[in-house]
Amino acid sequence: MAKEVNIDWSNLGFSYIKTDFRYISRWKDGEWDEGQLVEDNKFYIEEGATALHYGQQCFEGLKAYRTKEGKIQLFRPDQNAKRLNNSCERVMMPGMSEEKFIDAVKQVVKANEAYVPPYGSGATLYLRPFVVGVGNTIGVSPAPEYIFYIFCIPVGPYFKGGLSPVNFTTNDYDRAAPHGTGAAKVGGNYAASMMPHKIAVDKGFADCIYLDPKTHTKIEEVGAANFFGITKDNKFITPDSPSILPSITKYSLLYLAKEYLGMEVEERDVLIDNLDEFKEAGACGTAAVITPIGGINHNDNLHVFHSETEVGPVTKKLYDTLYGIQFGDVEAPEGWIVEVE
Ligand code: PLP
Ligand code: COI
Repeated sequence: MAKEVNIDWSNLGFSYIKTDFRYISRWKDGEWDEGQLVEDNKFYIEEGATALHYGQQCFEGLKAYRTKEGKIQLFRPDQNAKRLNNSCERVMMPGMSEEKFIDAVKQVVKANEAYVPPYGSGATLYLRPFVVGVGNTIGVSPAPEYIFYIFCIPVGPYFKGGLSPVNFTTNDYDRAAPHGTGAAKVGGNYAASMMPHKIAVDKGFADCIYLDPKTHTKIEEVGAANFFGITKDNKFITPDSPSILPSITKYSLLYLAKEYLGMEVEERDVLIDNLDEFKEAGACGTAAVITPIGGINHNDNLHVFHSETEVGPVTKKLYDTLYGIQFGDVEAPEGWIVEVE
């Protein structure tokens, strides 16, 4: 009989839960080994590992979804493989084939099948792949060896409200430099975001909004998610900048807004002093899914979009379309869904 786990699926947040198996593969002398599933959730690395000293690492985030029929599916894992390779390249780590990445993801999901939340609970299995530089190096140069690792955890909403709007605030800090590593999913960007995040949360906001690091006049990102706005004439707008993390959810929404909802879409500058152009706004990402933005605080002035308590109708439609595709209730564009058999 299949294993059963005792988890209150409907009340999950976004925190660590130990599941049964994780995947580890090692790179040495120019190639990755086969990789294997292991039970131990700790691994040992050398004291001179570049990941520890110089942040030579990167990570990904994707989810496995349980459909109404009980099948398990992944949403666009090829895009995570591509982005992982881009991040690896930026910090001089070896990439890997899409096949290796997707095969490893599937192995982890399959081995932890009991932790894939049931359809209808709203919860999902979040997968966290990462690559770290290991071996002993002390000069600032790429590591001689690497580890590619994936673990998974069942998760609920990242922002507490789920589909209820939350408020964000701008801040004076930058998560990335104009020509830095903002577009790569590297840990240093997130270390840089912890203090501004705490300042925002202490003031009662869900997270902070980052403005462009050069001029501080344009919206870049919402903490660990991308920003989108719906203009009063119903266009889907999302910021265009080389220092934003290219969100797979954002690019999916750009496509769905155009092809499924018939909206005009644009990637372009979003001026923090022109929030009035939007009737609705949201944060989007794998963990955040679509989180409606109630309001944005800037210079001690809270600009409210649709409502601080109710999701707007366009955001709701985008959410239903994306969520429906991810859970298998809405037909997906070709190639977006990969079944775990
Ligand atoms: N921006 C940042 C900084 C993130 O960490 C994430 C999460 O991955 C996103 C945006 C959303 O990206 P995606 O939709 O690919 O999960
Ligand atoms: C994701 O959405 O996958 C993220 O990486 C966000 C985060 C929890 C850092």
